[in-house]
Amino acid sequence: MNILQVLRSRFDAVLAPLVDETAPLLDMIRPTNDPKFGDYQANCAMPLGKKLGKNPREIAGEIVEKIDLSDMAEPLEIAGPGFINIKLKDAWIEEQLAAAVTDERIGVPLVENPKKYVLDFSSPNVAKPMHVGHIRSTVIGDSLANTLRFLGHEVITDNHLGDWGTQFGMIIYGFKHFRDNDAYHQKPVAELSRLYREVRKIIDFVDGQKGLPARKAKLMEMAAEIEERKAMPPTGDKAADKKAKKELDKLQRQAEEVSKELTTDEAKLNALAGDAEFAKVASEHADIASAVLNETAKLHAGDEENLALWHEFLPKCREDIQRIYQRLDVTFDYELGESFYHNQLGEVVNNFIEQGFAEESEGALCVFLEGFKAPMIIRKKDGAYLYATTDLATIEYRMREWSPDAILYVVDFRQGDHFDKLFAAAKKWGYTDVELKHVSFGTVMGTDGKPYKTRSGDTVGLEGLLDEAVARADKIVRENDTDGQLTAEQYADVAQRVGIGGLKYGDLSQNRETDYVFSYDKMLALQGNTATYMQYAYARVQSIFRRGEVDIAALRESGARIRVSSPAERALVMKVLRFPEALNDTVVDYRPNQLTMFLFEELAKSYSTFFEQCPVLKAETEEQKQSRLLLCDLNARVIKQGLALLGISTVDKM
Ligand code: ARG
Repeated sequence: MNILQVLRSRFDAVLAPLVDETAPLLDMIRPTNDPKFGDYQANCAMPLGKKLGKNPREIAGEIVEKIDLSDMAEPLEIAGPGFINIKLKDAWIEEQLAAAVTDERIGVPLVENPKKYVLDFSSPNVAKPMHVGHIRSTVIGDSLANTLRFLGHEVITDNHLGDWGTQFGMIIYGFKHFRDNDAYHQKPVAELSRLYREVRKIIDFVDGQKGLPARKAKLMEMAAEIEERKAMPPTGDKAADKKAKKELDKLQRQAEEVSKELTTDEAKLNALAGDAEFAKVASEHADIASAVLNETAKLHAGDEENLALWHEFLPKCREDIQRIYQRLDVTFDYELGESFYHNQLGEVVNNFIEQGFAEESEGALCVFLEGFKAPMIIRKKDGAYLYATTDLATIEYRMREWSPDAILYVVDFRQGDHFDKLFAAAKKWGYTDVELKHVSFGTVMGTDGKPYKTRSGDTVGLEGLLDEAVARADKIVRENDTDGQLTAEQYADVAQRVGIGGLKYGDLSQNRETDYVFSYDKMLALQGNTATYMQYAYARVQSIFRRGEVDIAALRESGARIRVSSPAERALVMKVLRFPEALNDTVVDYRPNQLTMFLFEELAKSYSTFFEQCPVLKAETEEQKQSRLLLCDLNARVIKQGLALLGISTVDKM
């Protein structure tokens, strides 16, 4: 049972006759931080008093008189200006616990009004190095899908692969000019990835060299302005002079920055130019950027050779990323990549034109949207369609095929503007009763303060990252056995779960919108808010059962009850019973860190106190021992279920 929901619906019955909209008032019923004020507190009498022009304490009194909570709560108390304190009856709590003990779902109810969600996540650009950001999208998306499903919603997961973009023009160009046949036959994806990097390198070199004169000119301009400003005599007006000085300082700092970047870039370019072999290749392919665009355009236009190459490359690339998904234990219902929508783009664009939603501007076809400075371009001057066009076609397809209530896009925050425009355009197009939501996330940073990069910067690099996490986990697990020896095979299994789990939890426990620094040490720490800590907490409970030779499954069915006999027990019990609320909080704004926060800050901490204060195997009576064993078990089951929803597994022995 979701206690908070039950309380809110009881309050709703009383508040509905008083106001038009009860939701904001019901929102003010919350769990308390201090048991002194009961288990929950309703603070709705204050705003209600203000609205109705009455004394809030009086209102609170009226609510208390009308509301029927006698089955579950002690007589309600009114405190201060009109807080209503709700303390649940111990007997009622014990009933809920008894139900949870024998319930596979540990008391988590299914939602009354299930919705249909489409989750668009992971979505890497294949044939292009996949990076940590895609892991982030993958683990956030997967955990949200699990949680929504567990709550009873219908979820369709769709990996919107970037399988049709310029990167294919790049590898096609590379394949035609630079391929190493042997390497391609032995390790095709590694060779394609090398080709991608080779082409990228030449493009960057050629562009870099082309851009140098303009950058130098800009720097000269800045230098001239600095000189000019320096030469200006003081005005005598203190404030104005101070301001001028500040501006000059700022300009100087900027110039230094620009100069430093220019120097390093120039040095890099010179080093490359000094490599005679590379310089020769680069000069032979001086028009590489436009040639790559041309290869891409040919592919899109159905050129036989390029299309055949694409058909050859794509399955290989897919297989390659599949390995990462396997290791992360993530699957998708669909993997409809960008290429899937290719044939529908012309129609989408025509539809926009017909409805008068798009107009030509400087040759490009634009959708002008209210509240946006720049329009959304859906067809370029040269006739090419864009990322946005594909996303419109994707919305149309998903709505037609699946009619979801919501489509969630778990994508990097840098695409925020794209999604804002996309959603506005979709609305204009008539998709008004679907929740379109960009579940945006920040950057994974390295300790150097720059976006985290794996050494080789491709899927191999990502696998290396997983390997490293597992290797470190292996060491930790071997040094921290809970009880007894594991076999070599068991160690390897545990290390996988701890390593991959640590990586996932390290990400999911962050506020998704902020950047965070990637650190193996932090994410695998034995203490603190980590998967490792939670996994050990789970295994320790199992270890208690082993030591006490307890058949916990039998005890659950035995009719033995959990008794709330001390404050530490009561505190823990209340956390266990609030698991459904935590899951709800997790999906309200699609934030897995709500769940990790609950598991660690609430559940684990209360369990610690309970464990310090309440002997389990050495309890005073058999009844007390059984009660505490069952409570340990509930705690462990919530951990296990919670971690499972985050995509993290547990083991009984570690
Ligand atoms: N392929 C894109 C990238 O790697 C992400 C796609 C996200 N999904 C979407 N429907 N636009 O940046």
